[in-house]
Amino acid sequence: MTGSMHAAAAGPDDLDGALAIIDGCRAALEAQGLLQWTAEYPSRAFFQEALAAGNLFVLSDREGVAGVAVLDGSQPPEWSSAAWQHRDAPFQVIHAFAIAPHAQRGGYGKLLLAFCEDVARTRGCRSIRIDAFSENAGALRFWERHGYRFRGEVRFASKPARHQRYGCYEKLLERPDRSG
Ligand SMILES: CC(C)(COP(=O)(O)OP(=O)(O)OC[C@H]1O[C@@H](n2cnc3c(N)ncnc32)[C@H](O)[C@@H]1OP(=O)(O)O)[C@@H](O)C(=O)NCCC(=O)NCCS
Repeated sequence: MTGSMHAAAAGPDDLDGALAIIDGCRAALEAQGLLQWTAEYPSRAFFQEALAAGNLFVLSDREGVAGVAVLDGSQPPEWSSAAWQHRDAPFQVIHAFAIAPHAQRGGYGKLLLAFCEDVARTRGCRSIRIDAFSENAGALRFWERHGYRFRGEVRFASKPARHQRYGCYEKLLERPDRSG
């Protein structure tokens, strides 16, 4: 199955598929009482801007777009209180990381994340920063499992009441294996 998967920078034709994944995840999360993604974020405008900047990435399988992520250097101001440890390392930030609900728990996230980490290395970065909604146990487990370390909790006043606490996570990227 993984053989049919392919991660790449998104093209304009991927935009609708990427947004459909966000809509599907938003609904699935809301069904669990998790108001993580609002109508305002992640929006079409956010993805269009990322696409134009070469920062929108998609994972596709035979059925079409199954995963999406944005990778760039911009961190929200709310993160300033987190205890980042690799402050001197150039970093990338992953935003709006999502796998289509029907495809979750099948290794797609792992593959898309490995691709994002490769892109970050190619961009000369040494670490990756992310945040995750503190109530989203599945996402927290996913990041921790992939070596992302907790750096503190921050609050987003822009999110719905009682859904404002996010954990910040950071990973120092290994250097590429030059042995081969
Ligand atoms: C988090 C997410 C990206 C993981 O993608 P995925 O394709 O399911 O991940 P993989 O199949 O590569 O890895 C699965 C691992 O992630 C963790 N995980 C993912 N979903 C989980 C859940 N609902 N409950 C518990 N653990 C979960 C587990 O460690 C799991 O390993 P396991 O199945 O051996 O226990 C995906 O669930 C998703 O898109 N969620 C909705 C959007 C979201 O919250 N994105 C993260 C924003 S910070």
